[in-house]
Parts: sequence; C-alpha cells; structure tokens
Amino acid sequence: MENKNILITGGAGFIGSNMVEKLIDNNNVTVIDNLNNHVGDRFIKKFYNNRNFNFINADLLYYDLNKLDNVDVIIHFSANSDVRYGSEDPEKDFKNNVMVTQNILEHMRKKDVKEILFASSSTVYGEAKIMPTPENYGPYMPISSYGASKMANEGFITAYSHYYGIKGSIFRFANIVGKNSTHGVIYDFINKLLKNNRELEILGDGTQKKSYMHVSDCVDSMIFIHERFKKTDIINLGNDNTTSVKTIADYVVNGMNLKNVKYNFTGGIDGRGWKGDVKITYLAIDKLKKLGWKSKYTSDQSVEVAVKETIEQLKN
Ligand SMILES: NC(=O)c1ccc[n+]([C@@H]2O[C@H](COP(=O)([O-])OP(=O)(O)OC[C@H]3O[C@@H](n4cnc5c(N)ncnc54)[C@H](O)[C@@H]3O)[C@@H](O)[C@H]2O)c1
Repeated sequence: MENKNILITGGAGFIGSNMVEKLIDNNNVTVIDNLNNHVGDRFIKKFYNNRNFNFINADLLYYDLNKLDNVDVIIHFSANSDVRYGSEDPEKDFKNNVMVTQNILEHMRKKDVKEILFASSSTVYGEAKIMPTPENYGPYMPISSYGASKMANEGFITAYSHYYGIKGSIFRFANIVGKNSTHGVIYDFINKLLKNNRELEILGDGTQKKSYMHVSDCVDSMIFIHERFKKTDIINLGNDNTTSVKTIADYVVNGMNLKNVKYNFTGGIDGRGWKGDVKITYLAIDKLKKLGWKSKYTSDQSVEVAVKETIEQLKN
C-alpha cells in the first residue's frame, strides 16, 4: 500500500499504532482516536512531527466525518476492545462498535470511499462445534455483546459493499499479542505480578486455549490479504496452533525471572475467565495459507515474544 490517504480509526491503540508504524513512510496517515485506552497518546506521540501524520482526538460516535475529504482507504480498529465487561454494560459494545462502524460506512457512502479493512473477531462464531473453525462455519451464535457487535458490523460492511461498490476486507482475528498492548491476558498477568510477585490470580481454570498471533504478523497479513482480495471477503487471522492460559502464565513468570509463584485459579463458570468468554478458540487458516501468507511466529512463539515486549513496555 503506497501513496494513499489512509484513515486509521483507533490508531492510538494497540494494533492501530502498529499499523501506523507500518504504513507511515509511504502513505499519508490520519488517525482518529478518543484516547480511551489506558495509554493515551503514548504510542503515537513519536509521529507528531512526521509530515505524513495527522491526529484527530475525537469520539467517532459524535465526530462529523464529513469534514474529511479524499480518504482512499479506511482501516477500522476503533472499538470497545475489552470483551470482559459486556455482561455488565452491553450497550457500550453497541455504541462503540455497531454505531461507530455505521458512521464510518455512511462517510464512505457520502464521500465515495471505496476500501475498508475491518478488525472483526473470532468471537462472532460463539462456541463453535467445529475446530479448527472455518470461515463458512454457521450458524453464528456469539455469546458476548462484543461478538454480537462484530457480527452486526460484518453484515453492514457486506451490505454497503453490495450497494455502493466498496471493497471490504473483514479479518476475524484470533488473539493478537505483542508490542504496544493495552489489554489482554499477557498485559494483565504482568501488571498483577508487578504489584505482587508471589501470587497470580488466573481467571477461569487455566485450561482455556486460544490461538495467538503476533501483532507484526497481524498488521503485515492484513495488508498482504487486502491487496490480494479482488472484492469484499472474510478471512480468519490466526495461527495453526493454540496456547493455554496456564502456559501463558508460565511464560510470563519465566520472562520476569520469578520463582515459586502461586497460581490462584478463580474457576469461573465451566472454567471460563468471565461471562461470555469462549473457552477454546481455534481458527482454520487454510484460506490465509492458500493466499500465500506465512506467519513469522507460531502461537507459542507469539506469546513468548509478546511477553518480552510487554515486560519492557510496562517497566518503562
Ligand atoms: N487485540 C486483540 O486480540 C483483538 C482480537 C480480535 C479483534 N480485535 C479488534 O481489533 C481492534 C483493535 O483492538 P486493540 O486490541 O488494538 O484495542 P485498543 O483498545 O488498544 O484500540 C482501540 C482504540 O480505539 C479507540 N476508541 C474506542 N472507542 C472509540 C470511539 N468511540 N471513538 C474514537 N476512538 C475510539 C481507543 O481509544 C483505542 O485507542 C478492535 O476493533 C478490536 O475489537 C482485537
């Protein structure tokens, strides 16, 4: 992707800031973010003096996107990205995910923007009965308002594509980990152990298993796939293997050079971390491979590298 005017929503957050870094040298990048992410503008400050970079601090629920002209491509990351609190406040997912995406699509319609890359999620599948789960698995029955919001987003993107000739690349992410993380299991474990290095609370029973992908593989593969998709399509992004929560705890404890840490499992309902937690997520990535993509890191390696990066990040 070169010489484009790219709007990255949520570009101050974890995956978005990695995407800015990838694209900034060869494109004009505008980020819209309301900095509602624990880290403010920490990850994008370094771009402020770059002539290819423009930052708008705004809430996309209310911002008048018609002020923007000449956008070629939108990479849409902004969302309430924390799945855990859906059962306490499902409306948050509806507003920040469904309504915001609708505002973006209306902007695309009015200003004739023809390309969007969208960060969807494996949570759309709910508790899939087929593992690894292929893109054509159904029926989707999300068990979180977050998953439900992503499912609605996907539907509106495909509908707008059909109406207005938009090319939408919809990426169903597994769990993404690595540099600039703002949330998630690795981030939580390190934060907890920085406060108390003798004990670690582990949500659920530790056997939850998910596929992890390093953020560098995530942003690289998004651009790689978007350039290969001829028209709107949906693809799983993940790795061929999974890592358990207990294994992640071991990587974190080793990475922090700790010994004899006592693990306290909260147990949860059916061993889940929280209401709405899908215990096993394992995505089929045949489509990804067929298009020629090969990740640098396996699931375990992604976790291992991310542990090092996140320890560094949280120490500074
Ligand atoms: N991290 C993962 O493992 C993962 C997995 C599946 C899907 N996703 C999706 O990928 C995208 C990026 O996730 P992330 O992990 O980088 O999350 P993040 O929370 O670090 O980034 C999201 C950014 O969006 C911004 N934002 C939220 N609501 C906004 C609003 N109304 N207006 C303007 N800005 C707003 C936040 O301030 C934040 O900087 C999200 O859509 C998330 O649902 C992430």
